[in-house]
Amino acid sequence: MKILNIKFFNFRNLENTSINLSSKINVFYGKNAQGKTSILEAIYFNSTGISFRTRKSSEIIKYNENSILSNIEYEDNITRNNIAVRYENILNSKKEFFFNKKKINQTDFYGKVNVIAYIPEDIILINGSPKNRRDFLDIEISQIDRGYLENLKNYNRILKIRNKYLKENLVKNPEYEIYEQEFIKYGARIIYSRIEYIKSLSIMLNLLYRKLFNSEQELSIKYENSSYKLSKLKIEDIEEELKKELIEKKFREMKYKFSLVGPHKDDFKFLLNNYEVKVNASQGEKKSIIFALKLAEIDIVKKNKKENPIIIIDDITSYFDEERRTSILEYLHKKDIQVLISSTDKLKIDSQNFYIKKGGVFVDKS
Ligand SMILES: Nc1ncnc2c1ncn2[C@@H]1O[C@H](COP(=O)(O)OP(=O)(O)OP(=O)(O)O)[C@@H](O)[C@H]1O
Ligand SMILES: [Mg+2]
Repeated sequence: MKILNIKFFNFRNLENTSINLSSKINVFYGKNAQGKTSILEAIYFNSTGISFRTRKSSEIIKYNENSILSNIEYEDNITRNNIAVRYENILNSKKEFFFNKKKINQTDFYGKVNVIAYIPEDIILINGSPKNRRDFLDIEISQIDRGYLENLKNYNRILKIRNKYLKENLVKNPEYEIYEQEFIKYGARIIYSRIEYIKSLSIMLNLLYRKLFNSEQELSIKYENSSYKLSKLKIEDIEEELKKELIEKKFREMKYKFSLVGPHKDDFKFLLNNYEVKVNASQGEKKSIIFALKLAEIDIVKKNKKENPIIIIDDITSYFDEERRTSILEYLHKKDIQVLISSTDKLKIDSQNFYIKKGGVFVDKS
């Protein structure tokens, strides 16, 4: 999959413009605070409907403006299409999604263009909170499995209702039982997909990490949920597990007036030779693990969608020295993956370069 062109309007400090991208490596270079990350963010936002820097879409709108619009033209194995996102920062306003100029809903929009972003902040996947890790899983799985996104939306809707009933002491109401069944149904499906995803991710991650960084160590990921212990994973068994946990924690939930059981409480951790990476690994090891993780994601997307995703690497010079950069970019080049990179310096590689200054994008012809 390749992005051919992006147009954006009112995006952070960027001048409204249209950029034609190369199907190979694109480098956006320039001094600090010129708009390099913002360009990558605009491309990511247009592809996924969310930013990789913030959950608040209002923050990405240019100061003193109140709406944002961007449009991507892309090609996959079969055809050329375009997708667009529009967002207006007025009360209760929703994002609008378009496919070939026709309005579509977010579920249909999601996953049309698959991008994987590697940004310096990704280290929070290891160092950050369980919520960071759950968000990661939700985003990645939704890109390859639309049913997952549907289940997630339903689950979150029921979770809100469930919390309201707990808060207002209404759990004895007859309809609560119906919500409880829905809660278990969607919750179990989410847990099932996450465990399946983690299992295949973990195997690929280990292989890539060992190969890329010449390591003898065993790297793995472990999902933290009681269903992970189940020897043969079946949705019905996870439903049973959830039911059991809900009964066990019933009185605590009534006491705390909040849902204490379910996938919104789960987490996962990285283990290197069975030691927890968060606590024991060095900074360099953590960065390398996250990068290997992104490469593993490429293979997962490719397997599911029969298409390579597009890779975004923000601030590549802050991660890797020249030697490592070259080997990583060669790896991506061989796989015929479109790469979008930001860097403070021009790189010594064969690439389409864009010079970024004060929000302006200038095609580098030299
Ligand atoms: N909503 C916004 N409207 C206008 N300008 C913004 C907005 N949000 C951020 N900025 C400004 O846009 C500029 C570009 O930010 P960006 O993060 O893209 O820079 P960068 O080129 O990636 O810099 P660095 O090399 O330091 O990472 C910054 O000066 C930032 O303060
Ligand atoms: Mg930046």
